[in-house]
Amino acid sequence: MKNLAQRLRGVVPSPIAALSQAARDLRASGVDVIDLGVGEPDFDTPEHVKAATTEAMRRGETKYTPINGGPALRKAIADKFQRENGLTYALDEIAVSSGAKQIIFNAMMATLDPGDEVIVPAPYWASYPDIIRFAGATPVVVAGSEEDGFALRPDLLEKAITKRTKWLFLNSPNNPSGAYLDREQLRAVADVLLAHPDIWVLSDDIYEHLLFDGRRFATIAQVEPKLRERTVTMNGVSKTYAMTGWRLGYAGAPAEMIAAMSNVQSQCTTHASSLSQAGALAALTGPQDFLTERVASLQERRDLVVERISAIDGLRCRKPEGAFYVFLDCRGIMGRKAPNGRIIENCSDAALFLLESARVSVVPGSVFGTPGYLRLSTATARDQLTVACDRIAQACADLG
Ligand SMILES: Cc1ncc(COP(=O)(O)O)c(C=O)c1O
Repeated sequence: MKNLAQRLRGVVPSPIAALSQAARDLRASGVDVIDLGVGEPDFDTPEHVKAATTEAMRRGETKYTPINGGPALRKAIADKFQRENGLTYALDEIAVSSGAKQIIFNAMMATLDPGDEVIVPAPYWASYPDIIRFAGATPVVVAGSEEDGFALRPDLLEKAITKRTKWLFLNSPNNPSGAYLDREQLRAVADVLLAHPDIWVLSDDIYEHLLFDGRRFATIAQVEPKLRERTVTMNGVSKTYAMTGWRLGYAGAPAEMIAAMSNVQSQCTTHASSLSQAGALAALTGPQDFLTERVASLQERRDLVVERISAIDGLRCRKPEGAFYVFLDCRGIMGRKAPNGRIIENCSDAALFLLESARVSVVPGSVFGTPGYLRLSTATARDQLTVACDRIAQACADLG
C-alpha cells in the first residue's frame, strides 16, 4: 500500500500468528496438523472466574470504567504485588490494559523518541522489537547463549548500554527459552543498572506462576528496591489463569509513569473491557490452589517432550525452568535433505520441514532473535504431544 505511515516500516505482523494461521489452513484442508506453535495454555478459564463475570454482567457492570481500571481491581492488583512480590504500590501506581501487550505498547509510546535505544536480551518474545520500532526507537539485541542457560550476561549488558539507552527488557520465565533468572542473576543485572540511573526496566513477569521443580519466583524491583522507582513490573491474567482471550494485563510503576501510559491508553482503547476486569478481579482474589495441579501437569509435559526430543538424532534441548515451551537446538539437522529433495539450511526450513513431513507446527528461533532453534509449545494434551514427538522422530529418521 502506497500511503502507509513511516512508523509501520520495518514492523511486521506477528509471525507467530501467521504460522498459526498456516497450520489452521492446513487443518481446514483436511490435513491433521498438531499445532505446537501457539503461546496459549490448553486449560480453560476457571469456572469461578466465568461465574463472577456473568454475575457482573447481570449487575450491569457494562459501562465505562476509569482508564486504569476500577478501584476494586486496582486494589486487588496492589494486594497481589504486595502478597506475592513484596512490592508496595498505591492505587495510582497501578495500570490495567487490554492485555500485557498493551502495557508494553503504552510504556514505549509514552517514553520513546527516534534515536532512543531499548536493550532486548535474546531469545526474546517476538513482539518486543516490533513494539519498540513502532514507537520509533531502536531495539538493541543482546544475544544469549544456551551455555549461559540463556540468562542475560551482566558484562554483555554493560557493553550494550549507550547514552541513548532508555529501557532494558527482562522476561523470566522466558518465552521462548523457558529460562528463568534467579535472585543471584537478577542481583547481577541490578548491579549493572545501579551505575546507569537513567535506564528504566520493563520486567515482563507474565509467566511468574509457571515455574517448575519447586523454583521460587523473584522480580527485579523486589531484588533491588532502589530500582523500583524506574521499573514497570508487568503481569497479566492470560497465562496464569488461562484467560488469553479476555485481554487483560496490568502493571505496577511509579505514578508519573502510570499517568504517562494512561495518557496513551486514553486515546486508543480507553480501558480494558469492564467484564474482563470483573474476571481478572475474580481470578486475583479467588482460590489459587488449582494452579499447583496445572503447573504439575505442565512440568510433566515438559519432561515428556524433553526426554523424547533428546532421543532424536540431530535435535537437542535443555530442560526449561518455567513457562510452557521447549526451545530445541535443530542445528544438527542442518545440511540434511528432506524427502522432497530440499536441503534444510536454517531454522525456518526446519520448521517448514516439520510442518510438511511431520504435520507438526512449531516456530523458528529466528522469530525470537535466536536462529538455529525451534520453539515447541508444551501446553497441549499429553497424547497429542506424544504423537507429535513420534512424528518428529520419524520425519528426522527419514532425512537424507
Ligand atoms: C513474554 C510475553 N509477554 C507478554 C505476552 C502478552 O500477554 P497478553 O496476552 O496479556 O497480551 C506474551 C504472550 O504470549 C508473552 O509471551
